[in-house]
Amino acid sequence: MNRQGLLNVNSDSLELACPTCRSSLDLAASAARCRLCDADYPIEEGVLCTGRSSAFLGEFDTAGMRGFVRRARESGWRKAAADMSREHPAIQTILLGQERAGFMDIMNPPERRSALDLGAGMGAISLQLSRYFDRVFALDQTFERLAFLKVISDQEGASAIRPICHWDVFNLPFASNSLDAVVMVGVFEYFPLSYPELSIEEVQVRALTEIHRVLAPGGVLFLATKNRFGWPNWAGAKDNSGLRFGPLLPRWMANRLSQILLGTPFRVVTDSLHQYHTLLNQAGFTKLDVYWPVNGYQASRSWINLDSQTETRLGIAQYSSSALKRQALSVLEAMGIAKYLVPHFGILARGTPSEAEL
Ligand SMILES: C[S@@+](CC[C@H](N)C(=O)[O-])C[C@H]1O[C@@H](n2cnc3c(N)ncnc32)[C@H](O)[C@@H]1O
Repeated sequence: MNRQGLLNVNSDSLELACPTCRSSLDLAASAARCRLCDADYPIEEGVLCTGRSSAFLGEFDTAGMRGFVRRARESGWRKAAADMSREHPAIQTILLGQERAGFMDIMNPPERRSALDLGAGMGAISLQLSRYFDRVFALDQTFERLAFLKVISDQEGASAIRPICHWDVFNLPFASNSLDAVVMVGVFEYFPLSYPELSIEEVQVRALTEIHRVLAPGGVLFLATKNRFGWPNWAGAKDNSGLRFGPLLPRWMANRLSQILLGTPFRVVTDSLHQYHTLLNQAGFTKLDVYWPVNGYQASRSWINLDSQTETRLGIAQYSSSALKRQALSVLEAMGIAKYLVPHFGILARGTPSEAEL
């Protein structure tokens, strides 16, 4: 029996529920058991496994990630990450970035009992969220990434973090109306890969509807992602699947192109401002605020409210590295279309209002 398993996924995790029948779970050292349907979910290396997936997204393959976990245990996670960032520069931002939870300034959730970091990856955001919330559920489909996060949370003494391995975002392992915040940074675009048999729009709406179910009254979803029509795409930047101009094309055409050029269907998708509004509305989110993370959605110091002209102008000044760029973006702003073309969005979507908000 792994005593460490008990460490973070413990009996005060009231929000947890069976993903199959949604009844309460009894948590023990090495497993969680559903009180109603008797389903057993193992706790391995301190990670509660309610639904493991063989899919792997990230900088490393499974063996590489295992090696990274070992090095983090042996030499400390910060040193292992700093060493690794020489080979994989993205690690510098993803793991060591100081502003991973910079969005907390705009999110400002009224209650701070529990948060879900959905698609937590290696958990740098969960670590920062653990300073604000009593319990942070770090959920990801990739076991090895969560094993790394467990090492981080042990070494940092971040006992609020509860890593959960789970892939089915239509059936999250949480009770209805239980979480104060759900955070999804660079994750929503990948969900269609998990359900290859369904249409992209159906996957998106069902996932958002499930998130709406688990949010407590007054709770808030923070969704950070790329803009399909962001200006880097018009300049030919590669999208998440490695295709240039793919996001700008109609989906059927991007799919055809992706099949020909990359040999895979076009299933890692981004949307426009209008499309994100529509999807969130369909899932029951009615009150939205849209921000532009000027330094990129992964780690921004500056979050610009796109409904404010003054703030948008400030964002353009901060973003522009040259006078020419500033002039071009100022023209877009004067035409009233800059908000539709910024590279990234941070969207705050409020769930059911609390009694105080009514
Ligand atoms: C680009 S990473 C972002 C990680 C993290 N949010 C961050 O910003 O550091 C996307 C993550 O989403 C996870 N993911 C994708 N689809 C998922 C699904 N259906 N269920 C759970 N996790 C998923 C991947 O395993 C991956 O760790």
